[in-house]
Amino acid sequence: MGLVFVFLGELGALDGEIGFREPLVNPDSPSSFYEALDETSLADNSMEIVKIQGRKIAIAKRYGKIYAIDNECPHVGGALGWGTFYGNSVVCPLHQWTFDLTTGKATKGISGDRVAVYEVKVENGKIWVKFPASQT
Ligand code: FES
Repeated sequence: MGLVFVFLGELGALDGEIGFREPLVNPDSPSSFYEALDETSLADNSMEIVKIQGRKIAIAKRYGKIYAIDNECPHVGGALGWGTFYGNSVVCPLHQWTFDLTTGKATKGISGDRVAVYEVKVENGKIWVKFPASQT
């Protein structure tokens, strides 16, 4: 079983502290794999934004490896899936904070900030993302 990082964050309202969000995902919820997209539709060194369980997820293929991270930047909501790559990080298109694709940790921006990253698998030609079945 792979490790799933879940940042307890709510898309939307900030509470006054940059990067802090209200809880969204119950870490005790059972998780399931959800179909994200056809593997062949994601070119190497590119990203696509998909919606899973109502949440936008950026699916990235970097040097042949596939990653899934929350699409919304914890700074002020830039779409990470519209960003670029720097090494093994994604660069937010708005203010260039960067987040490691493996851990979700900010590599440029506020130290200690992060985005959620999700376990992925490729099966039957599809990219699947492991995501909590319930967000309550
Ligand atoms: S929204 Fe500002 S760095 Fe992403």
